[in-house]
Amino acid sequence: MIIDGKKEAEILRDEIKKEIISIKNKTNKVPGLSVILIGDLVPSQIYVRNKEKNSKEVGMNSNIIKYSKDVTEEEVLKKIKELNNDKNVSGILVQLPLPDQIGKEKIINSIDPSKDVDGFHPINVGNLASGYKAIVPCTPLGCLILIKKVEKNLSGKHAVIIGRSNLNGKPMAQLLLKENCTVTIVHSKTKNLKEECSKADILIAAAGSAKLVKKDWVKNGSIIIDVGINQEGDKIVGDVSFEEVKDKAKAITPVPGGVGPMTIACLLKNTLECFKARLT
Ligand code: GUN
Repeated sequence: MIIDGKKEAEILRDEIKKEIISIKNKTNKVPGLSVILIGDLVPSQIYVRNKEKNSKEVGMNSNIIKYSKDVTEEEVLKKIKELNNDKNVSGILVQLPLPDQIGKEKIINSIDPSKDVDGFHPINVGNLASGYKAIVPCTPLGCLILIKKVEKNLSGKHAVIIGRSNLNGKPMAQLLLKENCTVTIVHSKTKNLKEECSKADILIAAAGSAKLVKKDWVKNGSIIIDVGINQEGDKIVGDVSFEEVKDKAKAITPVPGGVGPMTIACLLKNTLECFKARLT
């Protein structure tokens, strides 16, 4: 089975759109997402454009604040403070990566945790790790929704995550622990990478290495989620060698059209949740 992330994202966006219409009818208010984009990296520009398009389609207000790559940290912090205090702003996202003069930690820590739609603020990271209510990073949240479309009960399943980033690997592990999975995180320094992966009932590849996962890395009947977005010539490929792995898996996400669309749909979901939390 090939998991259709585009279709699942459309279903989620439809639900969000309906809820926004219903709240707007009662309150005359809609969620607002503010995105800060610094510099001129092409992938970041494409992501931000997609975020804007998607948020408008579901009836949210979207506001992109663009800075040149030599903007000062002070100026960005001042803008974040302004957005934190703006009651029309439900969610704030600062597109990563940032230029060298801007401290990522300082920027993330300055965002009001209740508007942190990326779920990167230490308060949200800590709440997620403690099993409390938290804003969950969009990509792992999207991955979990896709996994649960295939298998509702994940209790006791062995999940292996390739990659230990704050964006994907670590929050993914927390989410799967909450689902009662046995979780292993593997990374570039792991010995016997192949052997570890071949034990996975659920394999999540978020390594950022094109076609890393081969046929003999995966267990028969496993669920494979490919978070990778790698340029190979004029094509985008994932972290999994899709063609050679797909017949061995019970279910697998393609790249493109798998996790990617779900990430943006989950950003809208997080923005809606932040908005609802502020309605009184
Ligand atoms: N750059 C790549 N992925 C992401 C993401 O999920 N959030 C932000 N803020 N920047 C990113």
